[in-house]
Amino acid sequence: MHSFTTWLSKRVATAFVFAGLDARFGQVTPSNRPDLAQFQCNGALAAAKQARSNPRQLAETVASELRTDPALAKVDVAGPGFLNLTLTDRAIADHIADLAKYPRLGVPATAKPATVILDYGGPNVAKPMHVGHVRATVIGDSLRRLFTFAGDRTVADVHMGDWGLPMGMLISELEMRHPDWPYFDADHSGPYPNASPVTLDDLERLYPEAVAACRSDPDRMQKARAATFALQNDEPGVTALWRHFMDVSIASMRANFDALGVQFDLYKGEADVHHLIAPMVEELTAKGLAEVDDGATIVRVARSDDKTEMPPLILLKSDGAVMYGTTDLATIKDRVAEYDPDFMLYVVDQRQHLHFAQVFRAAELAGYGHADLEHLGFGTVNGPDGKPFKTREGGVLRLSALIDEARDKALERMVEANLAADMPEAERAEIARMVGLAAIKFADLSNHRRSDYVFDLDRFTRFEGKTGPYLQYAAVRVKSLLRRAADQGDAPGSVLPPGDVERDLLLTLGQMSDAVARAYDKRAPNELCDFAFALAQAFSRFYAATHILSEPDKARRAAWLALAQLTLAQLTLLLDLLGIEVPERM
Ligand code: ARG
Repeated sequence: MHSFTTWLSKRVATAFVFAGLDARFGQVTPSNRPDLAQFQCNGALAAAKQARSNPRQLAETVASELRTDPALAKVDVAGPGFLNLTLTDRAIADHIADLAKYPRLGVPATAKPATVILDYGGPNVAKPMHVGHVRATVIGDSLRRLFTFAGDRTVADVHMGDWGLPMGMLISELEMRHPDWPYFDADHSGPYPNASPVTLDDLERLYPEAVAACRSDPDRMQKARAATFALQNDEPGVTALWRHFMDVSIASMRANFDALGVQFDLYKGEADVHHLIAPMVEELTAKGLAEVDDGATIVRVARSDDKTEMPPLILLKSDGAVMYGTTDLATIKDRVAEYDPDFMLYVVDQRQHLHFAQVFRAAELAGYGHADLEHLGFGTVNGPDGKPFKTREGGVLRLSALIDEARDKALERMVEANLAADMPEAERAEIARMVGLAAIKFADLSNHRRSDYVFDLDRFTRFEGKTGPYLQYAAVRVKSLLRRAADQGDAPGSVLPPGDVERDLLLTLGQMSDAVARAYDKRAPNELCDFAFALAQAFSRFYAATHILSEPDKARRAAWLALAQLTLAQLTLLLDLLGIEVPERM
């Protein structure tokens, strides 16, 4: 099953071939002058250039072949040689009727399923998750849903920051405060305590203090480095302590991700490749790719045609410490060995662009697998001042607080709009939770991932405009329409050739698979948001122009209900791909 444009592109391609030209010129898109035509094809211009002929004449030849097609009501040549196409209402109806019958709502599954590793979320041990993690998490989750829906095999890895100097800073901080703890007693024999001596709150409080102390005092920093070194050399006491950091942190991460409705297949982190690093460095050295430079072990990744400076990737610092890039390189090797992926997608802050460029080049030099390594960078969540979002007190807004705030604001909005007013308390609270999440997720996803956006819960939670709550409400409204129809004994029937009230809705419904394909190809969930919004608007115009339930013509009533049903199915699918739930009622 195809969208209108894929179907028409094929059709127009045959007309080009018929005229002795290449099929690729037949590309059809929705018209950018909907007042003139529904679709357009600009291929005649490029074709004429290639054939060194007159574009208008060429377009005329193609057009006259197309005019023989009963599905086309109108074929015009405009301007220098644009083809303007308009379908018959019968063809539109037939196409939409087919679409409704197809599995997956007519979205074709990928021809060659790929293995795709998605690396997103990326929280750090001992640090609170905050508003910035919304992007890393929500974009990654949507892409996982999209790739899974397309038929690919997806593996989602949270890739925690759980290794390296930050851990050493914390360990040494605790050692200074509690030198008597068994973890720091070299003579300690027997097991270490099962219960963590620290809570996550302790860690979150201590971490910034440790960082500040290390930054201002070289001796203090030396202690942190020594602790890092001990951890990276499997010293039992600090390893046992670090395990506690992990346990308390992961429990909190899981709670945050659960609250967002986001899942991972793997809770792996930098530390998981610890044991691969020494052999990897050895191998890279043997291959002549790694070399010792000023005490550090590095891989030179610059190329002669680089326009900007590309510093070498540091594998080991002169003190033997392992770096962020080292663990990322080893992680690629590990993933290749375990999954042999075709793609590895990293949904990580755009500011880490250079880091990924270095790591990817090193992986290529090392010959680690054939996967396409893609850094899908994202922009910053800003405050009204255009700087990274801070709370009124100037701190970072915690993810958990943000989710609660969105829920409360959603409830306020529901009260304002008199929604869910007569529902039991618990159901209303559950709807507010869904609406709050929809607000956060849609606001994030509807911006292209690379753009920054301004965090504004007041706007995100509105039921009007391009928001998650608007789309949820649009879907809920259709649900209620279909329920009321069922109550009066009406069911969706066959799609009829459209008139002016519904034509635009049918044309929109016939474009969903294009939007899904664009989102997939560009790894850009905002394409799904744009289309979902356009669809909701098209439905809302149709709905305002008709009285579906009191329409006297039974066949028409049933046809309109079929459109409502298909709209709901598409909206539900799109919202699901965005990680947004639709309540039964509001
Ligand atoms: N923990 C990292 C950070 O906070 C993000 C991890 C991203 N994934 C990766 N493979 N490097 O910046």
